Amino acid sequence: MDWFRRLVHLPPAGNEMANQVDMLHLLVLFVTVLGSGVTLLVAGYFLIKYRARAPRRATRRVVAPRWLEVSLAGALVTLFVVWWVLGFRQYLQLKHVGGEAYEVHVVAKQWMWKFSEPDGNTSIGVLIVPRNRPVRLTITSRDVVHSMFVPPLRLKADAVPGRYTTLPFRAPQAASWPIYCAEYCGLSHSRMLGRVVVLSDDDFARYRAGKPVKPVERARNSLEKSGIRLRNVANEEGEVTAATGQRLAQRFGCLVCHDDGRDESPSPPKIGPTWTHLYGTLRKSESGEMRIADSQYLSESIRDPQSHVVAGFPPTMPTYQGQLRAAQEASIIAYIRSLAPEAAPLEVD
Ligand code: CUA
Repeated sequence: MDWFRRLVHLPPAGNEMANQVDMLHLLVLFVTVLGSGVTLLVAGYFLIKYRARAPRRATRRVVAPRWLEVSLAGALVTLFVVWWVLGFRQYLQLKHVGGEAYEVHVVAKQWMWKFSEPDGNTSIGVLIVPRNRPVRLTITSRDVVHSMFVPPLRLKADAVPGRYTTLPFRAPQAASWPIYCAEYCGLSHSRMLGRVVVLSDDDFARYRAGKPVKPVERARNSLEKSGIRLRNVANEEGEVTAATGQRLAQRFGCLVCHDDGRDESPSPPKIGPTWTHLYGTLRKSESGEMRIADSQYLSESIRDPQSHVVAGFPPTMPTYQGQLRAAQEASIIAYIRSLAPEAAPLEVD
């Protein structure tokens, strides 16, 4: 595969998925180059064979036999279907890494990447993940559309305000890879850089214990050398954790109307749907529409509560559009998710 990567200037392969993606890339490239080569040769042959031999002599009309037309069209359709099957299988592999995932919340904003780790620790610009373990990113944006792009892992997903995109991956060995923003997002778009640092088991344990780790330091230094701001902005937005979500739910009055199962015997029953065991369940609206209560659904319900009023409840919830910052909203959703029987890894996008 390496000769192919060098030939068409592809980035190095950071995991097995990258090999498979490149393989499909190579197959498509090979077949299309072969196809256009054959077409060119046949066209050249016809050009000579059917050239004008005498002035004003009409060309003989040629009608292709039905079997030829059907089999050519059939062969082409089969080819495209085969590509689709291969691509779809890779898509499924990309979406399911298997095993319990290391969850990181990503908030993109002009012009930086912010990563909130499972214990609430926040890292600007540098995404730190363990080697050979499934990692699941939940990506959102706090302002405009960005796109997180890690070429060596063949990872790319848009960060859209008000949307939660999940992006699972696995990186087999310790490494450090660049992160780019792949969606034009304003003046400093080209400087919206970061790094994924994949740590060995030992280094990762040290990192979790709060000790300095060489590869992380190196990544931070190299980013700062290129003028990327990494510090003094960490607390501006707040971290994304279920615990923060619980505090925010108190502060913003969510728990006046929604029950989170913390007060014994809420009496009288609260006016809104309960939050306990809500995440991941099927919800039916007044209009009969069914939705799964995933991050996307909860985000919409917070921003535009009237869009999906759950059957049997009054449409009284006010909108929180513009009142919650992206990380705050993500924290409240993380809290609701933590109230489900198991933090359900639901793949719905
Ligand atoms: Cu963010 Cu371009």
